[in-house]
Amino acid sequence: MALTLGDIAMTQDIDTLTPDNIVEFLGSIFDRRGNEEYLGEPVSMGEHMLQGATMAEQNDQPEEIIVGALLHDIGHFTSEFGMFTMDDDKDRYHEDAGAEVLERFFPTVIIDCVRYHVAAKRYLCATRPDYFKRLSQASVHSLNLQGGPMNEDEVVEFAKNPNLQKIIAVRYLDDAGKNPAMQTPGYWHFAPLVQRMVDAHCQHRS
Ligand SMILES: [Fe+2]
Repeated sequence: MALTLGDIAMTQDIDTLTPDNIVEFLGSIFDRRGNEEYLGEPVSMGEHMLQGATMAEQNDQPEEIIVGALLHDIGHFTSEFGMFTMDDDKDRYHEDAGAEVLERFFPTVIIDCVRYHVAAKRYLCATRPDYFKRLSQASVHSLNLQGGPMNEDEVVEFAKNPNLQKIIAVRYLDDAGKNPAMQTPGYWHFAPLVQRMVDAHCQHRS
């Protein structure tokens, strides 16, 4: 599949990203590509992530959950394989791609929310009988490609993650952020919070 303009920008920029330009760069992805279709869903990719972040903010959830929801699907824009389609017969691992881009700049809790938002769906399907009903048709389709509900061993292993509750919170926002009628602020509303988080993490490490 040919690379899109956004993929090319990403592959050129990924090595030049710094704590001073990552927040702006993420914003440029929302600006350039946020309107792309979230295939199988009634909202665009940008709207989807902004809806999750907005619901988290409106419900006074912790900042990590707001930012985790805002960025959880950013890997859809970094995969060299392009975007998910309903015709896919294998999973494209957008969660790993997203975590890889973000891990130099964000604390582990954010990286875990991004990296494990797909695993969290498999975990919740295995552990909460009502959860499956929340899933959209596209999400059920991708669940099957992603391995279906976790088995018992996988559940035990997954539950060891110290960030489990935040990972699950982001997962619920992921499932809820598919409302065509919802209005949200844009990415730049959240940018100062994202920058504070990057600064705190990168200062902490230097
Ligand atoms: Fe999502």
